[in-house]
Amino acid sequence: MNDLNVVIMAGGKGTRMKSKLPKVLNELGGQTLIEHVIKVAQSLGASRKIVVVGHQAAEVQAALSAHPDLTFALQEPQLGTGHAVQMAQPYVSEQGVTLVLSGDVPLITPETLTKLLQVSAGEHLTLLTLNAPNPFGYGRVLKLQSQRLGQTEIVGIVEEKDASPKERLIQEVYTGVMVIPNVHLKAWLAKLANHNVQKEYYLTDLVKIAVESGHVVLSHQTHDVVEVSGVNDPAQLAFLERAHQERLAHALMLNGVRLADPKRIDVRGELVCGSEVSIDVGCVFEGRVSLGQGTKVGAYCVLSNVEVGPGVTLKPFTHIEGGLKESEAVSIGEGAQLGPFSRIRPGTRLGAQVHVGNFVEIKNSTLGEGSKANHLAYLGDASVGARVNYGAGSITANYDGANKHKTTIEDDVHVGSNSVLVAPLTLGAGGTVGAGSTITKDTPSGALTVSRAKAVTLSNWSRPSKKDKP
Ligand code: UD1
Ligand code: MG
Repeated sequence: MNDLNVVIMAGGKGTRMKSKLPKVLNELGGQTLIEHVIKVAQSLGASRKIVVVGHQAAEVQAALSAHPDLTFALQEPQLGTGHAVQMAQPYVSEQGVTLVLSGDVPLITPETLTKLLQVSAGEHLTLLTLNAPNPFGYGRVLKLQSQRLGQTEIVGIVEEKDASPKERLIQEVYTGVMVIPNVHLKAWLAKLANHNVQKEYYLTDLVKIAVESGHVVLSHQTHDVVEVSGVNDPAQLAFLERAHQERLAHALMLNGVRLADPKRIDVRGELVCGSEVSIDVGCVFEGRVSLGQGTKVGAYCVLSNVEVGPGVTLKPFTHIEGGLKESEAVSIGEGAQLGPFSRIRPGTRLGAQVHVGNFVEIKNSTLGEGSKANHLAYLGDASVGARVNYGAGSITANYDGANKHKTTIEDDVHVGSNSVLVAPLTLGAGGTVGAGSTITKDTPSGALTVSRAKAVTLSNWSRPSKKDKP
């Protein structure tokens, strides 16, 4: 839309969160509350986005430094929502409209806001309202029978603390979201006063001001409490988190994903799934995760920033931790099998049909097609070819206390159990390392290399026994 200005109010204190973190920087679905709101503003095509900061302004601003499209308006001290918009007004364009949102109402939908903007038609003060069976705490929408409209007309909003007992019975409430035509914004804001119980400049008084100057105030009603719910305390944050997760779960299921239980999944970022993907209970997806066609994720897996190919089986309690940088990217090839209890760390690339078993940790390593590390092992900074068998209990000793070194294991190598591979090192193709070896030098292709003390047998030896007490 042309000249859509969005003002996001984020100046309030958030005392009830009982935390040093600015309220709008609490996370929901892996993203800060205010980032959810910014995303919605972006999706509406806002030409200007102004964030009003006040309490802990520097922290909020720093946390949003990755958004060059934002303008910050400082509100110091914080004298109410009307005062907040007054601070933003100098940055608002002369034409078009201003949509007022709150940084602590994260789940507002673009669909509802689009309808609200349509109702305002670029020229009317328009409120987003809700019919609340329990309206406590909200501003109530006051209506009167109108002579000029021949129907009821919005004439004001009264805050809970200022409302009469009769007004408190009104169930239609103001959600905190309104659209204001910019041609009137400055003049209307200038008329705000703080003659109320809280001695604040209420944005909601714009309604009365508009009506008094002969304008009609319109509204659009939403039926979705969740999208207009704000976060004021940890319980409300948890409530909205679950609501958000349920929405994501249903969107996944609509795309054909099989979820064992839509109430027991957490997506803290973006999860993209191919067809026939199934996800068991208790899994957490962080950052950017993609799951290929037919992949099965077992119970209680935690997956961060990973590209999982098709036909992969992740058995329960698999932990995959990729990063966003190219060097930290993690990918799992087609048909691979991991877990239970496998740990895959940044920079790991597993080829097709790789098997990684329980208590195996892999960091910054590549494993070629069909290679296996099935039990209790560590691979760090290793380049492993195809069809390698990496025995139980073997490790790459990749760190000398100062520097990390690389291990290269060529195709078809067999590393016997409990081997220590002291890097830098190359194991030649098709070679075998005998179990229990400590290897410090490169090994040749096709041969057995073993470093192990010869077994000694003492035939006239007897086991210690408990001595008789004297
Ligand atoms: C506001 C509305 C109320 C509505 C409710 C919906 C007013 C006067 N009242 O009340 O009618 O039903 O929202 O949730 O607008 N903020 C600032 N600077 C300030 C004060 C607030 O930036 O000086 C920000 C807050 O951080 C918050 C938002 O504005 O994001 C709303 O403020 P809040 O104090 O929660 O308003 P309510 O009393 O809930
Ligand atoms: Mg509030």
